[in-house]
Amino acid sequence: MLHGVRIAAVGHYVPERILTNAELEKMLDTNNEWITTRTGIERRHIAAPEQAVSDLSVLAARQALERAGLTPNDIDAYVVATVTPDYPFPATAAIVAAQLGAKEKAAFDIEIGCSGFVYGLGVVSSLVRSGIHQRVMLIGGETLSKITDYEDRSTAILFGDGAGAVIVERSAENDLLGTEFGTDGSRPEVLYLPVGGSRHPIDRQAIDDRQPFLKMQGKETFKFAVTKMVESALSVVAQANMKIGDVSLIFPHQANKRIIYAAAKQLGLSEDRVYVNIQDYGNTSSASIPIALSEAYEKNMLKNGAVIVFVAFGAGLSWGAIAWRWNGVAPPKASV
Ligand code: UT7
Repeated sequence: MLHGVRIAAVGHYVPERILTNAELEKMLDTNNEWITTRTGIERRHIAAPEQAVSDLSVLAARQALERAGLTPNDIDAYVVATVTPDYPFPATAAIVAAQLGAKEKAAFDIEIGCSGFVYGLGVVSSLVRSGIHQRVMLIGGETLSKITDYEDRSTAILFGDGAGAVIVERSAENDLLGTEFGTDGSRPEVLYLPVGGSRHPIDRQAIDDRQPFLKMQGKETFKFAVTKMVESALSVVAQANMKIGDVSLIFPHQANKRIIYAAAKQLGLSEDRVYVNIQDYGNTSSASIPIALSEAYEKNMLKNGAVIVFVAFGAGLSWGAIAWRWNGVAPPKASV
């Protein structure tokens, strides 16, 4: 028998330092007008040199724990979705659990690019539904600034850092309404970090050629993103025996405002049903959806019983969507 699952609490953290479009204008051949009209991004948060993903993740997780009234040892497993781990190994999730003071808990990372949080929510929900764990902390955390080439204007303007956390726990009711995951791994070079793995270990030449940075074919990613977001959102809503009009709020991965609104238009969703905060954070990869969810929670936009949809796409190429019923989370303190 499968158990029910619910989100018990959310939290997020973004670094203090803000990088504005005006600053980028001084660093690169770019301008505020191009960046805002092509992407919707106005500013992004950038981690301090000494801040790693685990540091951001711990702060997001701590906020979720406080809101849930739980301690780190009440969590059975820690999962971090990231493409910018502290180290290639060990798992950042293990470092996060230790920094929080959790003792001997299960911990592992998920690495599937910007789809990481949505994939992660599917995985941790399965762990809870199957009875393997009672309660799991899922964090989407990134320090993309550390793999961004600030001499490449086509990517430097896009990315930001941050972390968002959700606590997923066993429940009498099941709030997981539909899931859709996919990949097309035939063209990894559309969005990848070319060196540092077993295909091309880092060498001096790679550094001279500015290879240890994220590379992206923007237009290719754009086309695929809109198609897959629409298809997978419709699929999870159908699995929930609902129509897109029944969705209160959709949380798309924040990669480009034009991608988000093109997908919303094709879905027939009005803009007030789509959560957008890319103007403040840029693209934070697997952190973008949990940061958005935590913000929406703080603004008291999530009503009990509301159906919400998470939908993401990214490196892989990968995509994923989940339909979820927001249920029984105590409203934010300011609104009580
Ligand atoms: O998280 C998942 C992965 N990421 C994404 O989903 C990103 C998807 N792609 C995109 O968001 C868009 O493709 C970009 C925002 C990256 C680029 O927008 P675009 O409308 O596809 O522009 P483009 O790459 O076709 O470039 C158009 C022009 C080019 O100049 P020419 O060749 O027309 O003279 C570029 O050189 O804009 C130029 N350009 C810039 N100009 C000013 C490219 N980057 C910049 C820049 N500032 N930062």
